[in-house]
Amino acid sequence: MSWFPQKRESTWLQRACEAVLSAGPIPRHVAIIMDGNRRFAVKNSLAKSEGHVKGFDKLAETLEWCLDLGITEVTVYAFSIENFKRSPDEVNCLMELSRQKFARLLQEKDLIHQHGVCVRILGDISRLPSDLQELLAEAVSISANNKRAILNVCFAYTARDDMCMAMRDVADGVKKGLIKKSDISEYLFEKCLYTSHCRDVDLLIRTSGEIRLSDFLMWESSFSCLAFVKVLWPDFSIWHLYAAILHYQRNHGKIQIARQNNAIERQRLQRESDLKCVMEEEEEDKSGVNTKDNPAGSSGKDSPSGVAEQKNVQSRVQHYKEVREKRVEEFLRTVHSKRKQFWTSLALSPSDVTLKPSQSVSVC
Ligand code: FPP
Ligand code: MG
Repeated sequence: MSWFPQKRESTWLQRACEAVLSAGPIPRHVAIIMDGNRRFAVKNSLAKSEGHVKGFDKLAETLEWCLDLGITEVTVYAFSIENFKRSPDEVNCLMELSRQKFARLLQEKDLIHQHGVCVRILGDISRLPSDLQELLAEAVSISANNKRAILNVCFAYTARDDMCMAMRDVADGVKKGLIKKSDISEYLFEKCLYTSHCRDVDLLIRTSGEIRLSDFLMWESSFSCLAFVKVLWPDFSIWHLYAAILHYQRNHGKIQIARQNNAIERQRLQRESDLKCVMEEEEEDKSGVNTKDNPAGSSGKDSPSGVAEQKNVQSRVQHYKEVREKRVEEFLRTVHSKRKQFWTSLALSPSDVTLKPSQSVSVC
């Protein structure tokens, strides 16, 4: 099946449901754990590989539903690093299916642009066969400027691996003196994750009845609405999506409050950290050479000179904040440009990775 299947006419009942749902908040970013492909295969006396093919078909259908509903960003768990532990046959089958589907996506270039979909791959793709890496990079490259919707495909991904990678980048930044240890914050850390360019995940859906995250978007889903659906992924229908959105709408208020509280707490922690850094600098100044402007123990807190000193501290904190923000943004630019370079160099790779329309690939 294509990534952009023939659109089916909605029924009056679907239109009615959509009208009701669109009166409430629609999640802008939906993440999906597409679980249950193999159980679907067993249930329907199919080969495992067929279960995954049906899983892809359902993904294509679901993306269309999301676009129609105004969901502008979708993130899917296509291949976990843990999946490498499956039998070599199944791993090869999933690699082959991905090769075939991404080659198809490249053939459907016009359709990607028509739908305005930007494809991003999140994960450690260096673990994948090099021809597949190049295909993925090309899909990312040709769709990079599309603005209507974003599809994030988590491939060779786990949240713990992502966090380790981010930690390495941060540690490297400290070691090279690009940032200070005190610059490390929730903000800095999440801007080093694969999802740094994503908006907040509003709704996370997992199919197949399993009630766990399986190492998917663990950081990003802290303030998301979670919907665990019993149906196996290839059996997922638009009605399950409507039900998940309704569940999101019922919990929307509480999620917003939790997000706001977290934002306030982050700001408080950051202010505290900046003040601590300024105080530490001041201590260093006092014990060191620069005592001219800030003589040690110069005044009481409430005396005129004490008030002046407090103002002086405030302006130093403000100055420190500006310098820190500049330092952090510069560091993040370095991290992101390194990653961009990695993708660009892969996409420019000399081998011809796109399949000719006449070449068909049989899956497994
Ligand atoms: C989980 O079901 C599904 C996967 C591990 C693979 C998901 C992949 C697809 C739906 C295809 C996507 C392809 C592209 C190109 C994006 P499972 O295998 O764990 O099934 P089970 O839970 O019944 O054992
Ligand atoms: Mg499973």
